Amino acid sequence: MLNSFAAGSCALVQGGSRGLGLALVESLAASESFSTVIACSRQPRASSELQALVDDSQGRVRMLELDVTRPESIVAAAGEVRRMGVRLDLVINVAGLLHDEPGLMPEKRLEDLDLEVMQRVFLVNALGPAVFMRHFLPLMPADRRAVLALVSARVGSIGDNRLGGWYAYRASKAALNQLMKTASIEARRRFGNIILTALHPGTTDTALSRPFQSNVPEDKLFTPAFAAERLLEVIDSLSESDSGCFRAWDGQDIPW
Ligand SMILES: NC(=O)c1ccc[n+]([C@@H]2O[C@H](COP(=O)([O-])OP(=O)(O)OC[C@H]3O[C@@H](n4cnc5c(N)ncnc54)[C@H](OP(=O)(O)O)[C@@H]3O)[C@@H](O)[C@H]2O)c1
Repeated sequence: MLNSFAAGSCALVQGGSRGLGLALVESLAASESFSTVIACSRQPRASSELQALVDDSQGRVRMLELDVTRPESIVAAAGEVRRMGVRLDLVINVAGLLHDEPGLMPEKRLEDLDLEVMQRVFLVNALGPAVFMRHFLPLMPADRRAVLALVSARVGSIGDNRLGGWYAYRASKAALNQLMKTASIEARRRFGNIILTALHPGTTDTALSRPFQSNVPEDKLFTPAFAAERLLEVIDSLSESDSGCFRAWDGQDIPW
């Protein structure tokens, strides 16, 4: 797997501390194509699973502090990658927010809309990743195939929205898709070999989906390891003409 990347490639996973991001770091670290895997998180050392991966990796897996909601943190992390002297053949932005402890739950109806909550969700899911793209695209190679993938969600599809609800999360993922598409058009002009994509991992058993799993049939709830493998297969299959696509874990395109 990951035959599309030459041996000695370098990958970076933004949001690699837990859930799907951690599973991606694990898979990439196990792949012979990647000699360096950089896992970013707000507090990477707070993740004992990531720390264990780093400890077992003989220097192949590295941690980097990055809070996608703070531009100075994005700039500092990009500077750190530059100092490492590596080119990023694969960059995956995984960070995403659906709910959290201080009262952030996806909206069921218009009366639930709250400006501050919507801003936080947009910051983590769309605006931060856009600024992240700005600073990390120039760290990708100019002379060989490279992929920048943003983990999105099928519920960000406007064409596929049949159930309603989850206003901020849906809209922020739709915004993420549009930001990726726009950057893919510019990248085609300026960095011809970099393929951009937005990916849906399928419903995956992580902290993000946990409060909403009761209606999900068992065979439709993926383990993080399974979802990570499927996403890496999709990434492996992408060619330059696919740049700008919104694709699911099974390789199918999702309507905008
Ligand atoms: N699970 C699903 O069923 C499902 C379905 C569709 C799409 N997705 C998408 O898949 C992605 C991964 O989700 P998951 O299920 O693995 O969720 P998760 O277990 O809750 O992990 C969320 C990740 O986002 C990072 N994050 C959150 N706030 C951040 C911030 N301000 N700055 C930087 N990183 C931040 C976290 O890193 P730190 O807290 O360590 O910084 C963590 O790595 C998300 O984009 C989500 O929308 C998930």
